[in-house]
Amino acid sequence: MAASVLFLSTTLLLLLANSFHILEGRLIKPPAKPRFKSNGPYNVAHRGANGEFPESSIAAFKRAIENGADFIETDIGSTRDGVLICMHDTTLDAVTDVAQHPEFAHKKAMYVDEGVNVTGFFAVDFTLQEIKTLRLRQRYDFRDQSYNGLFEIPTFEEYIAVALEADRVVGIDPEIKSPVFINKHVKWPGGDLFEDRFVKTLLKYGYNDPYNSQKWLKQPVFIQTFAPTSILHIANKTKSPKIFALGPADALAQDTKLLYSHYYTDEFLDFIANYVTALSTKKFLIVPMDSSHKNLPATDFVERAHVRDLLVQTATFSNEAQFMARDFAADPEQEFDYFIRKVHADIILTDHPATLSHYLKQKY
Ligand SMILES: *[C@@H]1O[C@H](CO)[C@@H](O)[C@H](O)[C@H]1NC(C)=O
Ligand SMILES: *[C@@H]1O[C@H](CO)[C@@H](O)[C@H](O)[C@H]1NC(C)=O
Repeated sequence: MAASVLFLSTTLLLLLANSFHILEGRLIKPPAKPRFKSNGPYNVAHRGANGEFPESSIAAFKRAIENGADFIETDIGSTRDGVLICMHDTTLDAVTDVAQHPEFAHKKAMYVDEGVNVTGFFAVDFTLQEIKTLRLRQRYDFRDQSYNGLFEIPTFEEYIAVALEADRVVGIDPEIKSPVFINKHVKWPGGDLFEDRFVKTLLKYGYNDPYNSQKWLKQPVFIQTFAPTSILHIANKTKSPKIFALGPADALAQDTKLLYSHYYTDEFLDFIANYVTALSTKKFLIVPMDSSHKNLPATDFVERAHVRDLLVQTATFSNEAQFMARDFAADPEQEFDYFIRKVHADIILTDHPATLSHYLKQKY
């Protein structure tokens, strides 16, 4: 009898303790995620922390978040069965072990990609199930090879989950990659284009708010593309901010087959400013270099964007000296300082977000 009373009161105490906990949970609001940054340029981890881990792997995205990135960036492609995946190239050759898979040897193909005959193993010829048997590897031989063979190719949704599950607000900066090629090789039900599937994936996770709105600040996203027709196609399908990426003036846009020089005109910038929040281009197209890798004066690209109220995204920063002008004496923080405080770039894509994070902590 005494024992069962003791048991009951212990149970009651435990129950009380539990409800107290719930009560506490109700009284004290669960901690919100720390606010998204409000000043200084955005630190965007290019394909994750790809200076350390194989590009666009979940490990690279997670490391970028540990390293203080504001956004994780990736290119989005598609499998044959229409699943959107994180992959820059149309071929899998440079960043996976596909060549070591004899079961896929028959898939080697040659396709025209942006006007060039390309031979290799194309992601659009692999189902998601097949893609998931491959393992990523480091693109550059001068970077750490010890993670080769460990990580799968993530899907677009798996990448989004990394950002949403982070313990602070982390943005995503996915690119609609190679849309002409993907739309030629992959068909979706209902006549959806690659761009439609891309936007629908973002909508599924609640990404649909204008730049700097309260909701955007809780789930920041930029949608990037080099294809102006993709921007117009999605213009009325999502309120998320878009970034138009420009290639070199003498390169052809994959969709319109116009030279990019056409897109650097005032007329075109006035037009596209109605649809995008930012322009993007390579750092060498903003600050050109001479033949001895010394900086030439900056172009007026940033001013021309800023007078139209557009942000400027620029790529790609890296700690490695071979990717920077000699003026910076192999010091990535000098290069950041130049592009951020002299050139006034707003969105910085780097392979080494830890270095940019360190720089930004000193200055902002
Ligand atoms: C691609 O290869 C095919 C077949 O070898 C050839 O006929 C075609 O001219 C090539 N196209 C380009 C753009 O090089
Ligand atoms: C978006 O919708 C508006 C009005 O609904 C229309 O005027 C505009 O042309 C549309 N833009 C595009 C790019 O389809």
